[in-house]
Amino acid sequence: TTTGTAQIGVTGLAVMGRNLARNFARHGYTVAVHNRTAARMRSLVADHGDEGTFVPTETMADFVAALERPRKVVVMVQAGAATDAVIDELVPLLEAGDIVVDAGNAHFPDTRRREAALREKGLHFVGTGVSGGEEGALNGPSIMPGGTRESYESLGPILEAISAKVDGVPCCTWVGPDGAGHFVKMVHNGIEYADMQLIAEAYDLLKAGLGASAAEIGEVFAAWNSGDLESFLIEITADVLQHVDAATGKAFVDVVADAAEQKGTGRWTVQNALDLGVPITGIAEATFARALSGSAPQRAAARGVLPADVQAWNVPDPGAFIEDVRKALFASKVVAYSQGFDQIAAASAEFGWAIDRGAMARIWRGGCIIRAKFLDRITQAYERDAQLPLLLADPYFTAAVADGVAAWRRVVAAAAVHGVPTPAFSSSLAYYDGVRAERLPANLVQAQRDFFGAHTYRRTDRDGSFHTDWSGDR
Ligand code: ATR
Repeated sequence: TTTGTAQIGVTGLAVMGRNLARNFARHGYTVAVHNRTAARMRSLVADHGDEGTFVPTETMADFVAALERPRKVVVMVQAGAATDAVIDELVPLLEAGDIVVDAGNAHFPDTRRREAALREKGLHFVGTGVSGGEEGALNGPSIMPGGTRESYESLGPILEAISAKVDGVPCCTWVGPDGAGHFVKMVHNGIEYADMQLIAEAYDLLKAGLGASAAEIGEVFAAWNSGDLESFLIEITADVLQHVDAATGKAFVDVVADAAEQKGTGRWTVQNALDLGVPITGIAEATFARALSGSAPQRAAARGVLPADVQAWNVPDPGAFIEDVRKALFASKVVAYSQGFDQIAAASAEFGWAIDRGAMARIWRGGCIIRAKFLDRITQAYERDAQLPLLLADPYFTAAVADGVAAWRRVVAAAAVHGVPTPAFSSSLAYYDGVRAERLPANLVQAQRDFFGAHTYRRTDRDGSFHTDWSGDR
């Protein structure tokens, strides 16, 4: 089989693939480019050929032949059937030791299946999370590659070169075997859902409590961006809230319909958490909040019909209220991340991935949507204790939440009294109180289970499993 001079190849040159190819070329790599419809490949080379060295190829055979060995092929097509079709076309052209990188948004069980199939043929299959959207793909995304550790030896340096950097450190590391990379990307997206919902609830509270305009709330978020909350999402929230709609001259957010959509990674995260039995209540509530917002018939039936029974909300001290909401937002955010990292730990144990959670926080510091200063604190927590059972129990986070817990309670209580829906704030506080409880009412649940189903129970005073004869109790 012929070999060429390209160090990497990209097939699938829609927006993401095109930008990844340009990013490789801009970093000095010779990039073979291919697209099913060759016109897309030609336009990439015509528009951006001056950015580096591209090897244009019109057929899959030419594309593969243009690559030096071990070949590194980045597949950037739609998840699902398109990815399988491209892999099926590629595999017969490759040789043992070659590396196929799926940089699309595959669901991790598909990645596990594909990795096992390619491993049988002596090929490396690297399911890779790429976060940061179009802009990230071009200028430096956060990259989460799975697959064999061996594949990372030759692939890793190239991916690290094109990734975002924070303090000179690449936002890319080997995550773990087979589907670990796509799994971590999925949880990243779930955390993103929670982060966005928490920010939206804070906005709603400031609007309801203060009667503040979008622009005024935008100023609050801009101020928050210089503290613990400093992050890409808080920063863009400040900008979005201050944006004026060109057509109407109104605040932009006031003309946007209040129905959120989703592509499905939040749903996957929640489904997997149910499978693993990990309570990721923040992510789940965020996912359901989007579903509720889009439940038009239910909302139409309830609006103006279900009684609210609330009084007007006149916050006496706006400055103190804003500070309470800030603290409640930060504490709820810590809970959402703590839960997401629990899910990573559980999956890592289930699938034998040995994922370094501190390293995940490190590669999310730049390039991706949840990039934030606060992620350094998470990395440090896992450096202090790699086996940390609960992020909230790390001394830094315990102290950070302790500082805000009274404010958090005031905010959630006020939201309930005044009828402002705060599913993520409220469920995060309930999780906090649940996980720290001396004794939960699960004793009663277990007793009920023994009563009707002889499911047995354990005792507080003796080891072993017990069943009570309940026949005399009814
Ligand atoms: P976008 O929505 O950003 O345009 P996309 O639809 O997610 O991108 O991805 C489309 C990419 O997947 C294109 O490169 C597309 O090839 P064409 O330009 O020829 O349409 C590629 N693609 C989709 N299905 C494919 C298949 N079965 N085989 C090969 N490539 C495929």
